[in-house]
Amino acid sequence: MIRLILLAFILSLCINYSVGYEIDLSTANGYQWEAALPNKSIQVPGRVPGSIYTDLDEANIFTGGALLFRFNDLDYRWVSYEDWDYSLTFQVPAEVSSYSAIDLVFYGVDTVADIELNGSPLGATNNMFIRYKYNIKEILKTDVPNELLIKFKSPVKYARDRYDEQAVDYPVLPTCLDPAYQGECHANHIRKMQSSFSWDWGPAFPTVGLWQQVKLEAYNSVSIRDWWVGFERDEIQQLWKVNMKIHCETPDSGIDHAGTFTVTISDQEQVVQTFEKATVLNGDDNRQVSTSVLTFDVPFSQITPWMPNGWGQQKLYDLKIEYQENGVTPSVILEEKIGFRTVELVEDDLQIGRTYYFRVNGEPVFLKGSNWIPSAVLPELITDQYLRELLTASKDAHMNAMRIWGGGIYEFTEFYRIADELGILIWHDMMYACSMYPADEQFLETVSIEIRQQVRRLSRHPSVLIWAGNNENEVALRQNWYGTASNFDTYKADYIKLYVDTIKRIVNEEDPARPFTVSSPSNGKKSEEEGYVSSNPGNPEYGDVHYYNYFGDMWNWETYPKPRMATEYGFQALPSVHAWTTAANPIGEPGDDWHYDGQLLDTRQHHPGGNDELVLQVEGQLGKARETTPVQRFLDMIYLTQMHQAEAIKIESEHYRRLQYLDFDGLGHCMGSLYWQLQDIWQGPSWASIEYGGRWKPLHHFATKFFAPLSFMLWVRDGNVAVYPHDYRNGADMLPGVLLIKLQSWSKINPIVTERIPNVNGNSTIEWQKPLDSWLSDNGCSRQTCFLTATYQDPETGLPLAPDSYLYPSNFTAVTNLAIANVQVTNVGQVYESSQCLWTIDVELSTDMPAAFVWLDTITDRKGRFSDNAFLMSTPTKTVSFWSSDPITDSTPFRDDLQVTHLAQIIRYNEIQSS
Ligand SMILES: *[C@@H]1O[C@H](CO)[C@@H](O)[C@H](O)[C@H]1NC(C)=O
Ligand SMILES: *[C@@H]1O[C@H](CO)[C@@H](O)[C@H](O)[C@H]1NC(C)=O
Ligand SMILES: *[C@@H]1O[C@H](CO)[C@@H](O)[C@H](O)[C@H]1NC(C)=O
Repeated sequence: MIRLILLAFILSLCINYSVGYEIDLSTANGYQWEAALPNKSIQVPGRVPGSIYTDLDEANIFTGGALLFRFNDLDYRWVSYEDWDYSLTFQVPAEVSSYSAIDLVFYGVDTVADIELNGSPLGATNNMFIRYKYNIKEILKTDVPNELLIKFKSPVKYARDRYDEQAVDYPVLPTCLDPAYQGECHANHIRKMQSSFSWDWGPAFPTVGLWQQVKLEAYNSVSIRDWWVGFERDEIQQLWKVNMKIHCETPDSGIDHAGTFTVTISDQEQVVQTFEKATVLNGDDNRQVSTSVLTFDVPFSQITPWMPNGWGQQKLYDLKIEYQENGVTPSVILEEKIGFRTVELVEDDLQIGRTYYFRVNGEPVFLKGSNWIPSAVLPELITDQYLRELLTASKDAHMNAMRIWGGGIYEFTEFYRIADELGILIWHDMMYACSMYPADEQFLETVSIEIRQQVRRLSRHPSVLIWAGNNENEVALRQNWYGTASNFDTYKADYIKLYVDTIKRIVNEEDPARPFTVSSPSNGKKSEEEGYVSSNPGNPEYGDVHYYNYFGDMWNWETYPKPRMATEYGFQALPSVHAWTTAANPIGEPGDDWHYDGQLLDTRQHHPGGNDELVLQVEGQLGKARETTPVQRFLDMIYLTQMHQAEAIKIESEHYRRLQYLDFDGLGHCMGSLYWQLQDIWQGPSWASIEYGGRWKPLHHFATKFFAPLSFMLWVRDGNVAVYPHDYRNGADMLPGVLLIKLQSWSKINPIVTERIPNVNGNSTIEWQKPLDSWLSDNGCSRQTCFLTATYQDPETGLPLAPDSYLYPSNFTAVTNLAIANVQVTNVGQVYESSQCLWTIDVELSTDMPAAFVWLDTITDRKGRFSDNAFLMSTPTKTVSFWSSDPITDSTPFRDDLQVTHLAQIIRYNEIQSS
C-alpha cells in the first residue's frame, strides 16, 4: 500500500497539450489572485485552481471552525448566495506579442461568470465542464500590468432565475429536493457539479471559483489539443488496426497550414511502430480543426494488449505525436500513454430478454466494483495522491470496474491515468442525474460543447469502457418520480432532445469505438426500441438495474433481483468514531452530537427516514443493541450499522457473482456487480465503503473477499447447502487445493464436523452439497445454533489459496447460543518492513469461542489499516497485520491503543442469556 503511494510521485511526466509558449497563471506559480465581494467588504487572497469556500476559510473569515464541522454547511451557506469577484494583476514578457495567436484559456470555471481583461469583456461562462478560450491578442499589454477580472454570479440565484424563466412555460422538475437533503433547489438549471447543491449522502457547498488552471497560450503553428484512438482487431491478418484522430487548435481561421504528423509508439525506448502523415489543416471560426482518421496497423505479435485488473497486464505504451509545420520551428510534441484494447457491449437475444455484458479484447468480463462520487464537495480539496489512494483501495478489493456517477464531475485527468495503470474499467455517466433537464436552445448549445470537449479529453484512455447519458432519468420519467406524468409528452420530448439528439449524437461522432447507453439503469437496445423511455426501465431481463430495498430480509439472497447487470445497490452505515470526531463536538461536551437521535446525526442523515431504516435492519438481523447510555448507544450503532452494511452487501454481491452461471427461468447470466458507493464526500451516514479521508469501513474489508478472484461461496438453495466456487477465469488460474467445510457451534471453538473435498476444479459448478436441516440435526445442530465455514488450502502447506468464507444459516436475532467470547490480543510484534508496507505490526489474537464481526480499531486516529478486519473468528488463534501509512518505529503505543470488539458484546439478548 505504502509503496504504491510513493510510486505516485515518479508517475508519467506527460506533456498534455503542446503549444508554442504558455504561462500558467496558477497561484502555485506565484500569481497573486484576489477574491472579493463586489463592494469589497470582504477581500481575501484567492487561490487558482480553487474556490471561494477554501479561500474564505484560509483567510479565517469563518468563525465557526472547519467547513465540514457540525452545522457549517448550513451556517456558511450565505457564501453561495453572494456574487464574488476573482481578479489578478499580471505582467507578461514582451516576446509574447510576437506570437500570431494569444489565447487566455480557462480549463474550468465554476460556473457563471463574466470575464474582463483590461476593462474589455472577453465573454461569459455558464458551464463548469467546459474549457473556455478567449483571443486576447488585441487586448493584452506587454509594457504594463494586465488586469483580469472574473465576476461570478451566485450559482443558487442563477439556477433559481433560470427555473423561474422556464416555469413561465412549464417547470423543469423537481422544483426542489426533499427537505432532508438540507440543500439548494434547481441544480438541474446550472451546468455545475449537481451534488454541490447537496445529495442524500453529502452537503451543499455551491461554491464559485476557477477550479482548474488558467493559462495564457501563444502559438505560431497548429497545436495539438487532444487525440482520439479506436482499435479494431483483425483476427485473420493478426493485426491491430489503429484509428487515430488528432484535434488541433490553429492560430487563425480559414488559412491553410501544411505540415506533417509523426506518431510513434514505443516500449521502453524501443520503437514498436511509427506512422507519418502529411496534412493541410484549416481552422474553423473557433480556430479549431481535426485531422481525418489516420489509420495504421500493428501486428498482434508486437503488442501486449491492455486488460482490466485480474485479467492480464495493464500494458501501456509510450505514444508521441509530433507535428512539424512546414517552415515553422520548433515542432509541437505531445507525449502520453496508449493501451491497446477493444470493447464491445454484447446484447444477444436470450429465450427471455437479452444479455448485457462487455467483451474486452474479445473476452467477456464480469464487472466487479463500485460507484464513484466526487471525492470532496470542493474539487480543490481533491489531490492526485488521494485519487490514487482510493483507486488503489479499489484494486486491493479486486475491483476491475468503477462507475463514475452522473451527479459529480468529469474527473481530473490524473484519475484516468491511474485507472489505466491499475486496470479499473470506467463506466462513465455524463453529468446529468436524478432530474428532468431543460432542453432549450441555450442549454443544448452549452451541453454540446461540454460533451464534445469531455469526450475528446477522455476517450483516449483504455480504462473508459462505456458512456452513459445520465443517471436514473429514464426511470425517473417513466415512474413519475418528480410529478411529470401530467405532462409526460413534453418531458419525454425534452429527454430525447437532450440525451438522444444531442448527447448520443455527439458521442457517436466523437467516439465511435465505444458503446453508449442513454441512461443507467436502462434496458439497453430494448429502451431504444421503445422510444428511449422504456415501459419498465428496471426490467431485469434487459440492460442494467439499480436496486435498493431497506425493508426486506436483506441477508437472504432470494430477496434480490436477478438482473443482467447490477450497476447500483447498497446499504447505509454510520461513519466511524474517527470520522465523526472531526465533525462533532468532543464526547463529554454538553449537547447531543453523540446521540443517535441527536440533531447533528439527524441533520447529516439526508436520506429521508434513513436512521429509522438502519434501526429496523440492524435489529432485524443482528439484534437489539444493549441498554446503555445515549453516547454508548451511538457508538454501538456505528458498529452495528457498519457490520450490517458489510454483511448485506456481501450477500447481495455474492448473489450477483453466482448469477453469472445460473439461470432462473430465463433470468440470470448476470455480468456485473457495482455496489453503491465507493467513497464518502463528508462525515455522515452513507452507503460508502471508504470514509472521507480514506479510512476503510468493514464493507471494504469484506469486498476484498467477496470480490476475490477465487471465492468459495456457501449458500442455501431449496433447502440444500452448497459450495459454489467462483473463479473469474473458469478454473484457468486456479491452484489445486483441498476444500474444507466445517460445521461449528456458536458455543464451541472446535468444529463438530469437517468435510474434506480434495479435487476441486473451480469450474463454477457446485462442488459439494447437503440437505441443510437434516445435516445440521444429524450433528446435533440447528440453524439457530451452528454455522459453516469453507476454507480452500494448499494440501501440503495448509496455506490458504482463497479467502475463508462462511454461512450463517440464520440471522443473529434467532441464534440461541451466541456467547460473549474472550477475544484477546496475545501478542503485538515489533515494527518491520513487509512486502505490503514499510511499517507493519503483527497482532496475534486468541479466543475461547467463535466470535462474529471481530473489529480491530485504535483509540487514536491512525492512518493505515489492518490486513483483515470485521472477520469471523472461528479458530482459537489468528494473526493479522497493521499496515501503518505513517512512519512508526515502536509498536508499544500502538499496542496500548488497540481495541477489539465483537458482536456478542453489543447486542442485548446476550446480557439476558448470560445473566
Ligand atoms: C457589501 O455586500 C455585502 C454582501 O452583499 C453586504 O452584506 C454589505 O452590507 C455590503 N456592504 C456595504 C458597505 O455596502
Ligand atoms: C431473522 O430471522 C428470524 C428467524 O428466522 C426471522 O423471523 C426474521 O424475519 C429475520 N429477520 C429479517 C430482518 O428478515
Ligand atoms: C472447466 O470447464 C471447461 C469447459 O467445460 C474445460 O475445458 C476445462 O478443462 C475445465 N477446467 C478444469 C480445471 O476442470
